[in-house]
Formats: sequence, C-alpha cells, structure tokens
Amino acid sequence: MGESITDPRGTWGSKLAFIFAASGSAIGLGSMWRFPLMVGKNGGAVFVFTYIISVFFIGFTIMLAELTLGRRTQKNPVGVFQTIKPGSSWKYAGYVALVTCVCILSYYGVIAGWAFGYFYKTIGGMFRGNITWDISDTIFKNFASNPLEIVFCIFIIMAITTFVISKGVQGGIERWSKILMPVLFALILFLAIRAITLGGAQTGISYYLLPDLSKMDPNVFFFGVGQAFYSLSLGMGIMMTYGSYIGKRDNLVTSAGWVCFSTTLVAFLTGIIIFPALFATPGINPGEFEVSTGLMFQVFPIVISKIPGGYLFGILFFFLLLVAALTSTISLLEVPVAYFIDEKRWPRKKAALLVGIVTFALAIPSGLSVGGVKFLTNWKFLISMDLVFGNIMLAVGGLIVCVFLVYLWRTQNALQEISLGSRGFKLKSLWVFNIKFLAPVVIIIILFFKIFNAIS
Ligand code: PHE
Repeated sequence: MGESITDPRGTWGSKLAFIFAASGSAIGLGSMWRFPLMVGKNGGAVFVFTYIISVFFIGFTIMLAELTLGRRTQKNPVGVFQTIKPGSSWKYAGYVALVTCVCILSYYGVIAGWAFGYFYKTIGGMFRGNITWDISDTIFKNFASNPLEIVFCIFIIMAITTFVISKGVQGGIERWSKILMPVLFALILFLAIRAITLGGAQTGISYYLLPDLSKMDPNVFFFGVGQAFYSLSLGMGIMMTYGSYIGKRDNLVTSAGWVCFSTTLVAFLTGIIIFPALFATPGINPGEFEVSTGLMFQVFPIVISKIPGGYLFGILFFFLLLVAALTSTISLLEVPVAYFIDEKRWPRKKAALLVGIVTFALAIPSGLSVGGVKFLTNWKFLISMDLVFGNIMLAVGGLIVCVFLVYLWRTQNALQEISLGSRGFKLKSLWVFNIKFLAPVVIIIILFFKIFNAIS
C-alpha cells in the first residue's frame, strides 16, 4: 500500500482512483471556462454537437493510445519513447511534451488564479447590489491588472499544486482527487438544476441545444476538435504519465471511456449553467457582449447580482471553478516531475519544488499581460501561450502519438497491451481505423488551418 521509498513513482490504489484522477485532470478550466467561450464564439449548439462527436471519434482514440503507451512502459513521456525506441531521436518528442506542460501550466495557473480571486471577492460580497456590464468589466480589468494581487493568486495556486504533487501519486493526487471530484460533480449538478429553474431559462437552453445549421462552418469543426484535445488533456503526455500508474489488470478501454464521458458531461452541464443564467439575466444581451478571455469573469458577476440566491450561487460556482482548475494544474505539474523522478532519480519533493518554482516564474509575464499593465502588450502574452501551446502543440503531440504508435510500436503490440485487463474490446476495428487514418488526417488538416490562420 502507498508508495515505498524504493518506488518513488507509485501506482493508483484502484481503477476508480485512476478515473477520478484522470477525470480531474481532464475536467478543468477547459470544460468550464474555455468550453462556454468556444460555444459563444462558434455558433452555439452546432459547436456543442461537433465537440461531442470529436470526443467520441478522435479524443477517445488518442486517450486510449496514450494510456496504453504509458502503461506498457510505466514511464513519463520521455521514458515512453526511449523505452520503445531506445537510442532514437524520438525522446525529443517527449521533451517537447514536458515543455508544453510547463508552458500550459504557466498561463493556466493565471486563470486558475483569477478563479481564486473571484472566489474570495464573491465571499467578500463584491458582486452584491446592482452590477452592470460596465461595473463588472471594470472590476475584472482592475483585478487582472493589479500586479500584486495577481501574483499573489498565482502563487497560491502554484503552492497548492506543488504541495499535492510533492505528496505523491496515492498520498497526493489520488487522495485529493477522491475528495475534490465528488464535490465537483455534486456542485455542478446542483448549479445546473438551479440554472434551468431560473425564469427565462428557455431561450438560453434553445441557443445551447437547438442547432442552427447555417452556423456550421470549417471553424466550428476545427475548434471542436481542438476543444476535445484541450479538455481531455491530450497530446502532451499527461495521459501517458497517468496511464503509467495503472495496474496491469485494470481495463484501459473502459477507463478511457469513463474519462471521456465524465469530461463531456461536465462541459455539457457547465453550458447548462452558463447559458440559461446568461439569457435569464435582465440587462444582458448575449449577442452584444464581447466574447473575450474574461467572459466568465465579466459576465458571471452580473448574473450573480441579479438572480435570487445569487450570492450563494456565486460562491459555489467560483469554488467549483477553483476545484476543477486545481485537479488539472496538479496533472500538468506531474508530467515534468515524473520525468525527473524516472530519468534523473530525483526525490519527488525536490522535483516538485523545482518545477513548481520555474513554472511560477514563467506564469508572471502571462499574469501581468492581461489588463492594464504595460509590461507586455495587453492580452498578448497569455493569448500567445494559449495559441502556441494550448492549440498547436497539443495537435502536434496528438499526431506524434498516432504516428509513433502505428508505425514504430505497431498497433498489434498496442492491442496486446490493451487486452490485458480488457478482454473483448468491442470497438477494436473502429479504434484501429481511427488511430491509423481518421485521427492523423483530421489533425494534419487542423494543423494546416491553425498555422495558416496564425500567420495570416
Ligand atoms: N484538460 C484540462 C482542462 O480542460 C487541463 C489541460 C488543458 C491539460 C490543456 C492539458 C492541456 O482544463
């Protein structure tokens, strides 16, 4: 039981522990902050359906591939490539994954910091009274451009993350996921029910659930697949690392299935919370406000101030956001830490502290780039980090996984690893087709589009 000194890597205590931890990684700001933003920017319900289809066909395929590679080698991303193709340059693909994790964590930590800030602001009663768009916008901008407060919030997020990771797989990640994830599910259900029962919720639900096919365009598709990668924590070695702690007797197929299902469900329910609340709030016209990085932070305070019981609703909502963000920051930090433990034989605490400090330092420019601080041009740094690492690098990582698994490791070997613990993999042929053809082709098209869009 637990991790021994001779085995600093650790393993999950049970299959359920893995599902909680991996869903904890997946469910985060991606489902709760980025998803509604994407729905708002990409035509409402059509985006919702494109996202669900992408999770099923592409997300699940790559998640299973990453878990399989991780469990076979019992290693971090660098170790995965090195074990299967020793002495080759493939290990650099692993390094790219490590850097991507650190870079994503650096800006993700900022938004998690905003969630923390809004949590205590809501408790302090800042959003009581008549909050209009102008007031809410000013509160957000003042907060986001207050260097001391932002750095303090990022510090708290990174300190909690580093603390949990330093405690190990069972004593840290598993223990906290087991507590935080059920809380998250309960809160989200409660808030979704509260949102649907608001007067005027109907319009929001229709916007969210009735697809308007005229809104369907290539962008919806590209962003839908991109969102599937982002929300499932794919393409950067997280699922390889989490897969490396899964026991040989556990079923990889159903584990991957559960993680995909719970993440989609939470993203879906977040939409059910946000859109009815938005449309039901007097004075907000969803067609008018700017769908920006701060969407949730600018719009939600107005909602809280207008709806009955809004004070409590607000506190619970920002607490939920904070919990969801923390179980993801934990997974982002675990990947580079696992590398130092596996490859450099560092003690876990030392690895966690070092990577934690470096990431905190890297988070500061992102934190200061939003709002009025002229440290770097407004908004740019955080947005560029999201574009390069949160978008392009995830797709590159996904493509690498497909190519490596199919052409270097071979699908046969993967299927054999999958069969340990999961006899009768019903979707076997579909998975093989997807990993060989569908996923790589779709990713290549998306990469062309993204790079073309970024430079044009
Ligand atoms: N999947 C998590 C989320 O949706 C965190 C994450 C984002 C992990 C991007 C990796 C890459 O919030």
